[in-house]
Parts: sequence; C-alpha cells; structure tokens
Amino acid sequence: MINLIKVKDYEEASDKAFEVMKKFIEPGKVLGLATGSTPLGLYQRMVKDHKENGTSYKQIKSFNLDEYVGLPITHPESYYAFMHRNLFDHIDIPEENTHVPSGLGEDLEAQARHYDEMIAESPVDVQLLGIGSDGHIAFNEPGTAFDSGTHVTDLAESTIKDNCRFFDNDITKVPTQAVTQGIGTIMKAKSILLIATGANKAQAVKDMIEGPIDEKCPASILQKHPDVTVIVDEAAASLLK
Ligand code: F6R
Repeated sequence: MINLIKVKDYEEASDKAFEVMKKFIEPGKVLGLATGSTPLGLYQRMVKDHKENGTSYKQIKSFNLDEYVGLPITHPESYYAFMHRNLFDHIDIPEENTHVPSGLGEDLEAQARHYDEMIAESPVDVQLLGIGSDGHIAFNEPGTAFDSGTHVTDLAESTIKDNCRFFDNDITKVPTQAVTQGIGTIMKAKSILLIATGANKAQAVKDMIEGPIDEKCPASILQKHPDVTVIVDEAAASLLK
C-alpha cells in the first residue's frame, strides 16, 4: 500500500521526510539509508535535530543501499565517504553500527551475500529510497528480478549519465558497476520511505504508482509492500492522474 504525500518543493519534501524518519530515531532501531541528491535535505534536518535537541543515534544501526565498484572509501564520491560527510560525522552513531556495502574485494558476490545475512539478523525498520529517472531503486535497474538479493550490477547508461555530475561531468570517470541491495532485500524492510522531487522523476513516479507491477519499472514493486510512504513535490507529481 502506497501512502502518497504531495508537497510543494524539495524543502517541504525534506521537512515531511524528517517528520516520518523522526519516529524511527530511537534506541534499537535499524535505518536503511540512501545516497544521492534526494536525501541531503533530510540528513541536514537529522543533523540539526541531533545538535539542537540531542537526539541520539548511539543505539541505532544503519545499512546503506549501495556502493560503486572499484572506488576506495577514501574517494570523495564513494558512498562511504558521502555518508560520513553528510551524516555520520555529524551525529553520534558509532562507526561499527554503520554499514555501507564494500565495492572492493576479491569476492564481491560473497561479500554481498554476507551483507544480506547481516541485514537478516538486524531487519531494517525504515528504508529510505530515492528513485532513478529510469525507475530504479538502489541500483536495481530495469529488468532486475524482484526477488533479487544484494548483488553486483552494471549501471544503466542513463544512470551513468545522471551521475556524471558528481564526477567532473566526465562520463569516463563514472564507475560502471555497483554493489546494490536487491529488490528482495529492500522489500523486507518493515517500512519504506521514498522521496521523489523534480521534473526528471515525473515519469518514473507515474510508472511506480499508476503503472503495472513490471520489472521494467523496478519501483513499481513497492505497490505490493504493506507500508510505503512516497513523498513527491509538484514537479515529480506532474504526470500523476
Ligand atoms: C542511492 C541510490 C539511488 C538514488 C537514485 C536517485 O543510494 O540507491 O537509487 O536514490 O539514483 O538519485 P538522486 O537522489 O541523486 O536523484
């Protein structure tokens, strides 16, 4: 069941997302986190709330969705570095409680299976998601099996182009593969919070909410999840009936 919340713009979407997220920031909870431009406003609000109200993350665990293959954690565009820069370094979550899949190692598939085992031991209470302009969630591109676990994947051409902006607008610098939680992994989260803003997400939002449940739009599987909140701004909602 998708609970759709329409707001005006990115700032309002971030306010609303924080309102939803805040309920999960309590001892023992497990947060599923995302990277990209979408969650930045939410992370700023989480940091502000921690600094001003002392909301503590000492007994919270987190699992991120994905990581580029081949980028060391010291690379500024690695998702590990992103999470530290934008959230972890500014709150009191213990480093050992945070998990970002590793994009480096001898056997990435074995590491991916281990990641799913860790999540199975600490089921995610709320999974934060953005959506790709092609309907991807995490790096599950169109055609990914709905029952997939964490795995290594090739990035779609459109995703490589979308992410070029983080790599000096140089397409040759964008990694072409990622380790990603699978759609099956994401669907196991107890609640899901997806934020979509901007006109370039409008078609994906329409397909996710009004389209058939089809692997062509990975996010459409969320129609089958029992507890999903989707926050959209006016631009992202512009194609909805
Ligand atoms: C990020 C992730 C991706 C992004 C999506 C939207 O961890 O898994 O699926 O959520 O590509 O990216 P932005 O927010 O940059 O538009």
